[in-house]
Amino acid sequence: MAGVYQRWSARDLAKTGEWSVRVVGRSRTQGRTHGHELPGTASYGDCAAGPPPPPSQRISMTNVLVVSGASRPESNVRSAVALAERAAIAAGATVRTRDLALTRLPIMEAGSGDQDLVPDVVAVRADARWAEGFILVTPEYHGNMSGALKNWFDFLYLELAGKFAGVVAVTGGGGGDMSIIAVKNCFSWCHGFTLPFHAAVRPADLQGGEIVGEKVCDRIARIAHDVVRYAPVILETFAAARTLGPGPAAGVAGMHVGDWDDG
Ligand SMILES: Cc1cc2nc3c(=O)[nH]c(=O)nc-3n(C[C@H](O)[C@H](O)[C@H](O)COP(=O)(O)O)c2cc1C
Repeated sequence: MAGVYQRWSARDLAKTGEWSVRVVGRSRTQGRTHGHELPGTASYGDCAAGPPPPPSQRISMTNVLVVSGASRPESNVRSAVALAERAAIAAGATVRTRDLALTRLPIMEAGSGDQDLVPDVVAVRADARWAEGFILVTPEYHGNMSGALKNWFDFLYLELAGKFAGVVAVTGGGGGDMSIIAVKNCFSWCHGFTLPFHAAVRPADLQGGEIVGEKVCDRIARIAHDVVRYAPVILETFAAARTLGPGPAAGVAGMHVGDWDDG
C-alpha cells in the first residue's frame, strides 16, 4: 500500500456546517493504519485569506489530490502542502495528499510490467485517477521540478487527461517560474489543463519552516479555491466531448475515447 496517505473529508462537515477536519491515513513508516481527528476550524492559519464560504455557497465535493513533490520529509514544501490542503477543504473539496517523500516509487522504466505491480505505483495511479483536480507542490531544483515529482508524472498519463491542476513552487530564493512552468508543461503534455495563476514560496515567506508571507498565503488559497471551482467543469466538459467519438469534433478528448473501457 501507499506511503503516508491522507484523506481529508469535508463531506459530513458540509451537512453540519461545522469545520472540524477528519484525517485518516496509513503510514508506511509506522507500518500500520492510523486515524485521528483534528478538532477546530479549517482556516488558513496565521495568514488568513478570509473565512471559508458558508455551506450554502460551497461548490459540491470535488476530489482534490495535493501532491507533495519533495523527496525529504522535513522539506519547506510541507507548509505549502498543509496550506493548500486547508484551503481546498475550506472550498468544499474532499482532499487526499500524496507525499512523494514517503512513497517508494522506482525510477520509471517504460514498458516494465513488473513496475505495474509495485504497490506504490498502483497507489499513485489509483489516487491520480480518483482526483478531479490537483494541487502540485514542487521544490525548485535546478530551475525545474523535483526528480520525485517528474518521476510521479512518468507513471501517469491517462489519469491526468481532462483534469485540472494548480501549481505551487517552493524555492531557495528564485522566482519559481522555471519549476512552475515545468510542472504546467508536464501536466499539459498529459492532456491536463492548468490554472493561469500560481504561487512561489521563497525563504522570506518562511519562518521556522512555516509560511508567514501573507501574499503567498493568499495566492495558495486562491489556487485551491480555483482548483475546486474549475476541476469539475473541465472534467465534465471533457467527458461530454468524449461522447462525440474519436473524430476532430471531440478535440483532444477524442483521443481518450475508450481509455478506461467506459466509452
Ligand atoms: C539539488 C537542489 C537544487 C536546487 N535548485 C534550486 C534552484 O534552481 N532555484 C532555487 O531557488 N532554489 C534551489 N534549491 C533550493 C530549494 O528550492 C530550497 O531548499 C527549497 O526550500 C525547497 O527544497 P527543500 O526540500 O530543501 O526545502 C535547490 C536545492 C537542491 C537540493
